[in-house]
Formats: sequence, C-alpha cells, structure tokens
Amino acid sequence: MTGDPRLVDTIESSQSREIFWDKDVYDLELERIFGRAWLFLGHESLLPKPGDFITTYMAEDKVILSHQPDGSFRAFINSCTHRGNQICHADSGNAKAFVCNYHGWVYGQDGSLVDVPLESRCYHDQLDKSRLAAKPVRVETYKGFIFGCGDADAPSLEEYLGEFRWYLDTIWEGAGGGLELLGPPMKSILACNWKVPTENFVGDGYHVGWTHAGALAGIGGELAGLAGNRADIPFEDLGLQFTTRHGHGFGVIDNAAPAIHVKREGWAKYLAETRAEVGRKFGPERERLYVGHWNCSIFPSCSFLYGTNTFKVWHPRGPHEIEVWTYTMVPRDADPETKSTIQREATRSFGTAGTLESDDGENMSSATHVNRGNITRDGRMDSSMGAGFEGPHPVYPGIVGSSFIGETSHRGFYRFWKEMLDAPDWTAVKANDNTWDSVFTNREYWTDKLDAVE
Ligand code: FES
Ligand SMILES: [Fe+2]
Repeated sequence: MTGDPRLVDTIESSQSREIFWDKDVYDLELERIFGRAWLFLGHESLLPKPGDFITTYMAEDKVILSHQPDGSFRAFINSCTHRGNQICHADSGNAKAFVCNYHGWVYGQDGSLVDVPLESRCYHDQLDKSRLAAKPVRVETYKGFIFGCGDADAPSLEEYLGEFRWYLDTIWEGAGGGLELLGPPMKSILACNWKVPTENFVGDGYHVGWTHAGALAGIGGELAGLAGNRADIPFEDLGLQFTTRHGHGFGVIDNAAPAIHVKREGWAKYLAETRAEVGRKFGPERERLYVGHWNCSIFPSCSFLYGTNTFKVWHPRGPHEIEVWTYTMVPRDADPETKSTIQREATRSFGTAGTLESDDGENMSSATHVNRGNITRDGRMDSSMGAGFEGPHPVYPGIVGSSFIGETSHRGFYRFWKEMLDAPDWTAVKANDNTWDSVFTNREYWTDKLDAVE
C-alpha cells in the first residue's frame, strides 16, 4: 500500500474508497500518522492544579496526562510495566501516585516506578525500578492546548502547527484571555472511519445546507439562508477556506460566530467587546476571522467549530469505528453565566443529542460501510469542488480557497495524509517543506482576483 499513488490522487483531487475501509491502510495510519503526529490530549483548564490528571487516548493507546508539581505537564502510557494491566481507570482526579490494582506497583506523577510491594522480601532489592517507568510520550502545549507525540523525531508542536498558528492565535489568544475547554467530555461510539468526520469538519460547508436544512430552518437567523443550498446565494462573498502545510485547515462563514446559538446574548456581547482589540493586535483580516464561524480540523483527528464552540476528538477504533469525545470551548475570561450558556448551546447543537450533529451520523457511517461491497469499494471519491479557484494569498498564509463551500481544505488534508503515509520518517516529510503546495497550481489566483477588485 505504501507509495500507492491511487490511494490519494492530488492532481485530479480524488481518493480511493479503500482509505475508509482497508485494514492495511489503517495499520499504516497508526504507524505513520498517529504514531508520528502531535495529537490533542487536553487543555490546561481540564487539569488546572498540580496533581490534577485526566486519562485519554492517543489513537488506540491509553494515556495518563498529569499536572506536575513544577507546573509542567507529562503524559505516559496507561499500562503497567509488570504484566501490562491498565494503571488508572478514573476519567480525572488529583493524585500524587497511581497504583496498579493487579499487584500494587506504584507510579509517580511523571510515570516513574516509585514503589513495589514486597520489594525487599520477594524481589530481594534486585528490581531496577529506574528501567521500569511507564512509557513516556512527548508533551508540548500551545496557548493552553496540550498535545502528545509518540515520535522523538517529530518537529516541535509549534513547528507542527506551523503557519496554522497564524490562524489559531486569532482565537486561542484573541483579545488576551484566549480559550479554554469545559469538560467532562461526552463520549460515544460511531461506526465510521475517523477521516469521514475529520474531512467533514475541515472543509465541508457544502453539506450544511442539505444535511442540516431542518435544523437551520428551526434555528433561523444568519445561517437559515443556507438551508437547501439555493443557487441564488453569493457564496464567494460569504467566507473563505484555508489549508496549510501539515494538513490543518478550516472554512469560515463571515460574521456568523454565534449563529447556531439560540441563546447567545453573552457570547455575542463578548465578541463585540473584544473584536477591536483583536483587530488592533492582529489586523483587520484576522478580526474578520474572529467574528466568523469556523469549521476546523487540526491534523489528524481533532476538530472544532469556533463560534458554535464544540470541540471534538475522533479517536480511531479500527478502520470502521471511532470513539468521539466532545468538549466545549469558551473564552477564559468570559463570565460564568456566559460560559455555561455557551456550553448548553454547543451541546444542544453538537453534543450526542445535538440538533445538528445527530443529522450527520448516517453520513459518517454509510460512507464507511458501503465499502463492505467489493464492487463498491473498487471505486473512487471526488473532492474537486473549486479546484483552481484557490492559491497562495498575499495576506493569509497557506492556501486559500475562494468560498467556504468548496473542497480546498479536503485537498490540503488528503495531500498531507498521502505525504505522511508515503514518508518513511519525518526527515522525508521535512524534505518537502518548500514544495508542498505545488499541487495547488493556480499561483496567480489571488493576485488576479484582488487586482480585479481594485
Ligand atoms: S500488572 Fe501491574 S502490578 Fe502487576
Ligand atoms: Fe454536519
């Protein structure tokens, strides 16, 4: 499967259906994507004090993330180095040590093995505990968001986010307070390949008016006009789409940040009061993004909607299933009433009983499971919408597409997916740094378009 050009065709913007189905492709993803990329673990707000911890996943691996006495964060594989038992079963808590309940080995907050029962009597003080720490994973933090990585050769988290930080800073720093996450997360199993929801969040403005027509009509307001995908709407004037070197991307709908929230006074007021400072710090192009609604994925498997403020991780469970974890994003310095209203509204629309999210379940699972049929599976999927109507932009980094209804961000996501799957290591990936966007061939798209406007 490695190096197979037919899995993802970056010239004609299509992918083999095998990428949603094939077990060998999935095993290669575990090794070359999930084993090498930075994966979302949590936010400082979920474990604010020394000793606070959460348990979570990096793909199929269970990990413990712990707030250290010195204020740093460490993570380690949640499996005992004796006979492999899972060390901690709690979702969260505060602990100075973690005790394996099989034979009672004791691990410190950093995963070091600090004590074992009957160490003198039965191990005769011969057990080298320093060799038996729980397996550590790299941890780095960006604006309070904590990521883990299983590859010592991976670039830093900041390099991995790369030029996408230009976008993230707009909201993760904003006017100064930034964003935090509210837990505990909702957790549910969905019978789909992990890439179906990831691509949906990274770049699918197209499905909104069709899949969610009923919910949009019910909510009313700014986005109600999208219901039915009517051809008379000037979509090119309503937003943009972005993709970047490491596959991160999003679409933005202008002036629509809180549009999905029915009860939104506090959140709208917060945005109105802080946008000028964002404009001062980051310029008018990013003030525009700050008050827009984003559908975003951070490669590979973390997605969020800024504005609606749902925040998701799609933990893979084999090629045909995921475990979805859903948090809420809120401004750190919003008042408590505003935070809890945002949480209610985000949950009402995009939680497990979400009025929009529950529309999407069959889209996710059927796009996966139709491929049970081998005649079906021997086919391709198309992501060509808007190809050529995109390119490098004089202000916005990465590649920018002309409308939030387009597949620019899909193309960027699958371009990097293919690059990671083809590359034997990070050195091979880094070798493409200067040529990654050559598949977006309309280099003059934005200069021509912006000249024409002037
Ligand atoms: S398996 Fe953990 S103490 Fe034995
Ligand atoms: Fe959707």
